[in-house]
Amino acid sequence: MKIGILTSGGDCPGINATIRGVGKTAINNYGMEVVGILNGFSGLLYKDVIELTDSSLSGILNLGGTILGTAREKVFRKKITSPDEKDREEIKKCYHELGLDCLVCIGGNGTQRTTWMLSDIGLNVLGIPKTIDNDVYGTDITFGFDSAVNIATEAIDRLHSTASSHRRVMVIELMGHHAGWIALEAGMAGGADIILLPELGYNMKVIIGKISQRFKVGKPYSIIAVAEGVEIQGSTEHPAIYFAREIEKQTGIETRETVLGYIQRGGSPSPFDRNLGTLLGGHAATLIHEKKFGRMISVKGREISDVPLVEVAGKLRLVSPDTPLVVQGKRMDISFGMEV
Ligand code: F6P
Repeated sequence: MKIGILTSGGDCPGINATIRGVGKTAINNYGMEVVGILNGFSGLLYKDVIELTDSSLSGILNLGGTILGTAREKVFRKKITSPDEKDREEIKKCYHELGLDCLVCIGGNGTQRTTWMLSDIGLNVLGIPKTIDNDVYGTDITFGFDSAVNIATEAIDRLHSTASSHRRVMVIELMGHHAGWIALEAGMAGGADIILLPELGYNMKVIIGKISQRFKVGKPYSIIAVAEGVEIQGSTEHPAIYFAREIEKQTGIETRETVLGYIQRGGSPSPFDRNLGTLLGGHAATLIHEKKFGRMISVKGREISDVPLVEVAGKLRLVSPDTPLVVQGKRMDISFGMEV
């Protein structure tokens, strides 16, 4: 059998471990031929491929980014959703000209949706979820998330000493797109006093009240973790910048912001993400061997499993008020910006 692997959407730590997991299992355990498709789905259209061998897959386990390159796929998405049958036929033709028996697509929500569309037009495909945001529906966790949470937690740890020395409020903005998972997990692990998530909303009076009360009882500084997806009505600026300005204006306490940004996505994956990618990749190779296609590899509890792409495509996994860390945080008087 000949399989192709591509990576699409934003990169994250652990992709190379996953490519290696799929490739080395396919080659060594199942005797398959493996090619890497470059720069996301556009590489499929341009038939831009490289051979992947056991040797070329060595030495990449600890590398950040993706050796295959990636892209946000507007052009390809237009073709696959096009009402013109010819566009979809062109995609099928490229797949067949490459001689593929299966295409493995490693990516986030958008990629899983595109992968499902490829399955819908009759191609043998599998999806492997990846994103620092941890918001892919149908899996309990995505690789990349643990590495991002580690980086974000270390950043919050570092803010504590400088906040304390200056008796300041520190607002740190963390990635996550529409989901608050990174802000929640790093905020809790880093001991933030206030955690603001897109899923839970906020009330400025509550935030100001919490900071003022902390200063009144002799706590000289406060740390706020805010997810980038928190919506500020009538403003397009970074939430951290908005909150820092408003808090200083309304409390009179010196406030500084940090927008952590792409630092969360770059660099070497954590051991957890390396092993998760390795396991997900191995499971994908097994499904190909068993000729089970049209599925996304997933994690359920501690088990590696798989779900039909049709059940997950187009859906998001978000934080909810009864997420255990939110419930426990509230019990410890950590503010989520919404208490009465
Ligand atoms: O999905 C990962 C992510 O880093 C989000 O957290 C963020 O909103 C987005 O990608 C940034 O996308 P881009 O790489 O297109 O700037």
